[in-house]
Amino acid sequence: MRIVLVGPPGAGKGTQAAFLAKNLAIPHISTGDLFRANISQGTELGKAAKAFMDDGKLVPDEVTIGMAKDRMGKPDAENGFLLDGFPRNVVQAEALDEVLKADGVKLDAVLDLEVPEDEVVKRIAGRRICRNDSAHVFHVAYNAPKVEGVCDQCGGELYQRGDDTEDTVRKRLEVYHSETEPIIDYYRAQGLVITITALGKVDEVTRKAMDALRREA
Ligand code: AP5
Ligand code: ZN
Repeated sequence: MRIVLVGPPGAGKGTQAAFLAKNLAIPHISTGDLFRANISQGTELGKAAKAFMDDGKLVPDEVTIGMAKDRMGKPDAENGFLLDGFPRNVVQAEALDEVLKADGVKLDAVLDLEVPEDEVVKRIAGRRICRNDSAHVFHVAYNAPKVEGVCDQCGGELYQRGDDTEDTVRKRLEVYHSETEPIIDYYRAQGLVITITALGKVDEVTRKAMDALRREA
């Protein structure tokens, strides 16, 4: 399957993507994770992206689209993928359409995770991520690790993302409404959007998402 996951910052895209990708046996492609990996490795791409991310703004399309295309071109993505955080504006959605068209394939669904803004802010404020693997995501209250500051899955150190400050989160929400939400209409016109309320326990949301995707398949 080829799926796009969309939703405001902190909606639980990364959390759900880890389970959905595993259940569907497709790679989880997160442009945010790719940028963060480039930043920690000190690459030119990481240097180009860092200031935009710290400000809560979108990284320019020419950087992002090239990186996403490269990743989608890897052999493991040949038969499907779960895109998390890409596309994030209409220009990127059009670029994705071109890639799919060139490969003679189509998206199966756009899964839209709906979460009220006050909940999103609480989720982001308490989020902690593993230094070894960004798919290991915790929350100090909702999904606390057994030992404070230590990843349950690999023993790695947990940290708080630099763009998870109150001011930056507000900016990211603003950018989501003005630049990313329009892609929901773009995909709605293609009949691809499935909206689910992503409240409740993580496994309940996964079940809801899997049920909705199965109905589409
Ligand atoms: P990115 O990394 O994509 O961040 P985001 O979209 O802001 O989303 P988040 O990672 O903040 O949240 P999430 O929805 O994944 O939530 P999570 O699962 O962690 O992008 C970061 C930056 O990179 C952007 O601002 C931009 O600068 C740049 N960028 C990335 N892609 C780009 C693109 N295509 N174009 C241009 N720029 C781009 O969950 C949040 C917390 O909630 C966790 O603590 C989790 O444990 C908890 N939680 C999850 N589910 C539940 C639940 N059901 N109940 C209770 N708690 C829950
Ligand atoms: Zn870990």
